[in-house]
Amino acid sequence: MAPKFAPKEPVVLDPPQSTVFSRAELSRFDGVQSPQIYVAIKRTVFDVTKNPKSYGPGGSYAIFAGKDASRGLAKSSLKPEDANEVYADLPANELGVLDDWYSYFSQRYNVMGTVDV
Ligand code: HEM
Repeated sequence: MAPKFAPKEPVVLDPPQSTVFSRAELSRFDGVQSPQIYVAIKRTVFDVTKNPKSYGPGGSYAIFAGKDASRGLAKSSLKPEDANEVYADLPANELGVLDDWYSYFSQRYNVMGTVDV
């Protein structure tokens, strides 16, 4: 059986990298200060540069660019105050949504490292 949230077309991923990013370093990978766009989930940093319609300037989910987006993804929230790495206080259903997003990203985007928030 195909894994949950498998992409329709197979995505070939690079071996994961293990750079450690501070929050400030991660924030530069927002598609503006740098052409690269990174989004982290549960401290794992994904390179989403290939999807500028979602994460580039003016994109639907640009609020998450250069950030650990865990809370916003868990809560299905695009509010700026939710675009952060705090999720331990969330209810089980939202933690489940967060894990689903982790699975979705893991099958589409290269891992660049972790964020040391
Ligand atoms: C009216 C509400 C919404 C609509 C109609 C909508 C629509 C969509 C569509 C069509 C896609 C697929 C894009 C594609 O594969 O090309 C998508 C992906 C996505 N949506 Fe939404 N969305 C909505 C709300 C939200 C909210 C509130 C969040 C907040 C977490 C969210 C987060 C995402 C993310 C992270 C993706 C994945 C983008 C990727 O492929 O990396 N969406 N959405």
